[in-house]
Amino acid sequence: MRIAKFMATIASVAAMVGCCCTETQNTECSKEQAVIETIMTRRSVRNYTSEPVNREQMAKILECGMYAPSAMNMQPWAVRVVDAPDFIEGVTNIAIEHNPQLKEQEGFHNFFRNAPTVAFIACPVESYSGEYDCGLLSENMMLSAWSMGIGSCCLGSVIPVMNSEAAKPYLERLQLPEGYKLQVAIAFGYPEPNSTKEPERDLAKGFYIE
Ligand SMILES: Cc1cc2nc3c(=O)[nH]c(=O)nc-3n(C[C@H](O)[C@H](O)[C@H](O)COP(=O)(O)O)c2cc1C
Repeated sequence: MRIAKFMATIASVAAMVGCCCTETQNTECSKEQAVIETIMTRRSVRNYTSEPVNREQMAKILECGMYAPSAMNMQPWAVRVVDAPDFIEGVTNIAIEHNPQLKEQEGFHNFFRNAPTVAFIACPVESYSGEYDCGLLSENMMLSAWSMGIGSCCLGSVIPVMNSEAAKPYLERLQLPEGYKLQVAIAFGYPEPNSTKEPERDLAKGFYIE
């Protein structure tokens, strides 16, 4: 059922962006087309079912993240995956104390865009290219997730809350290595219907110089 819903979403987004692989054409889909289709159809998902991401699938997503390039192959990241409801609820309560209006958002269940699974990405405070490398890891994780029907959303807004005094016990639970700082959180989960938007892209931002 979930897969059928996902394929229907992929097919409709693919039609919108002019991709060539649809459910019926899937067998003809080349490797190249599959990668491009995954990139072009991924959108930030901001509402999820309550079912945590299957841990086997999450392990594959994590592995795909670790296969991202990094400067001098330093792999300067630390990733912590959380699907413990008490953690997610605890941080949500702290976020609501910071900003009570959060609760007014339609369909609000938790501070992580209602995701049941969250990955916290950290890098060394002092690092040659840690932030950049973590960005590459993050995108690998989000694209591999999408190729499996799992939605995601980068959440920069989580970081100040996680770094607040009240959230200290949760930050400590992440067991980050000494000298590391949280870079971003990524929400993961199975998308609810109508949980994405179609933000436009400005293709004029990149061009050839002759
Ligand atoms: C570093 C970073 C931080 C982000 N923080 C948030 C956030 O706090 N909340 C949110 O809803 N989306 C957040 N986003 C998602 C962006 O809003 C989204 O990627 C952008 O609007 C493009 O939409 P798309 O991902 O659907 O293509 C973040 C994205 C990045 C890369």
